[in-house]
Amino acid sequence: MDIRCTPLEESLIRQISAAVQDAGIESYLIGGFVRDKILGRTHQPDMDIVCVGDGIDLAHRVARRFKPHPTVSYFKNFGTAHIRVDNYDIEFVGARKESYSYHSRNPEVAPGTLQDDQLRRDFTINAMAISLNRADYGTLLDPFHGREDLERKIIRTPLDPEQTFIDDPLRMLRAIRFASQLGFAIEQKTLDGICQHIDRIRIVSQERVTEELNKMLMCPRPSVGLDLMYRTGLMHLVFPEMVQLAGAEYKEGVGHKDNFYHTLQVLDNIAPHTDDLWLRWAAVLHDIGKPATKRFEEGNGWTFHGHEVVGGRMVPRIFAQLKLPQHEKMRFVRKLVELHLRPISLTKENITDSAIRRLLFDAGEDLEALMTLCEADITSKNKARVRRYLANFEMVRNRLKEVEEKDQLRNWQPPVTGEMIMKTFGLPPSKVVGDIKTAIREAILDGEIPNTPEAAWQLMLDKARALNLEPVVSR
Ligand code: CTP
Repeated sequence: MDIRCTPLEESLIRQISAAVQDAGIESYLIGGFVRDKILGRTHQPDMDIVCVGDGIDLAHRVARRFKPHPTVSYFKNFGTAHIRVDNYDIEFVGARKESYSYHSRNPEVAPGTLQDDQLRRDFTINAMAISLNRADYGTLLDPFHGREDLERKIIRTPLDPEQTFIDDPLRMLRAIRFASQLGFAIEQKTLDGICQHIDRIRIVSQERVTEELNKMLMCPRPSVGLDLMYRTGLMHLVFPEMVQLAGAEYKEGVGHKDNFYHTLQVLDNIAPHTDDLWLRWAAVLHDIGKPATKRFEEGNGWTFHGHEVVGGRMVPRIFAQLKLPQHEKMRFVRKLVELHLRPISLTKENITDSAIRRLLFDAGEDLEALMTLCEADITSKNKARVRRYLANFEMVRNRLKEVEEKDQLRNWQPPVTGEMIMKTFGLPPSKVVGDIKTAIREAILDGEIPNTPEAAWQLMLDKARALNLEPVVSR
């Protein structure tokens, strides 16, 4: 075979090929699997099979060769079928000549040859096929020189870019995503094609667009993809809030940094430290409130007061717009955006235990993620300054650890709950219950009482007495 596979992959491919040869249906392994095998890159466990004939029929024939038979799921309208064997998703499709009408997303599909199908694929590097047929089993069929493009590290469309991008405008984002993932350049003609057709991205579903965006964020250097999106104009359509960050304004000879490129730098800084997509999203959005809060203050220069609060408030809307999850993940990102200046404020001298306790309490289990974000947020070019900032954060980390060990405040649960207060004083749910609870929390955070049930109970009794409340039951 012209590609090197694992023993499991070899055995899967042999089984598929046996079904192909039995049925006499000309078939090929194609797409990302072939590309990544040639690159020696790990590919997720999936394979695409294209056949000159009925893909659904072939899927059934292949499924019958495995015990137990995997389920064949298929879409008759699209002529595609899927089976899952040994954790591998195997997709079958009949080769087609495909053309999309300009105003709709629905393709007009007609059966075609292997070459027709390869021509209709997105990039030369994704159009390479490996034969599963008896006559030339294992041979690479590469009519558009995808292999050379892999060597030259080039993303290029097999057809005129205009045609490829009209067929499926998502490919403009895919080109950028592959450039970012593989560290490739987009061929000039292909890049020009993207710039000319950016408007077509509007017909693509938000889910598909966001999936590409997420994949870009997960790259080793996410800035590559986001910068290309900005320079081609796609960012303006897909994520306009991000574009608002770009550029630096000058007044009275004083400028501020370009917050778009600062954000890209923060993303690149955080990438080696986390594979958590949501922490990377927090990096994308940490300064998103800056354009709305930008002011020029005489004698003080540019300020962005409250940008973390305004930015935090923008997170739910941006998540909804991009069809990102609305609950736990969104809350995590919002929390990090809101808190991202807090550790910096703790690098000053004479920071009290109380300020440290408050951060422990507010960040809770997301403290480590917050510190990772803050460290990535240092983008100064001055190496000595970076070292100084990092050393300051190290001090903050040590203080946080010290106070946490002493006070056990992470994942803090109130030692006296609202229910306990209601039961002790025979109270219904009411403001006074909340006031007592808050007073206990504040006293613990301020270090006035230790974080113990006994001290909290005593304070509850004192506060209640001041309000003329007497216990109706004892502890
Ligand atoms: N393809 C295409 N146009 C698209 C999407 C996919 O031509 N808009 C073709 C390409 O030949 C691609 C193959 O379908 O290689 C499989 O698509 P997909 O699984 O989305 O991508 P992979 O190339 O496998 O890469 P990745 O899994 O990293 O997305």
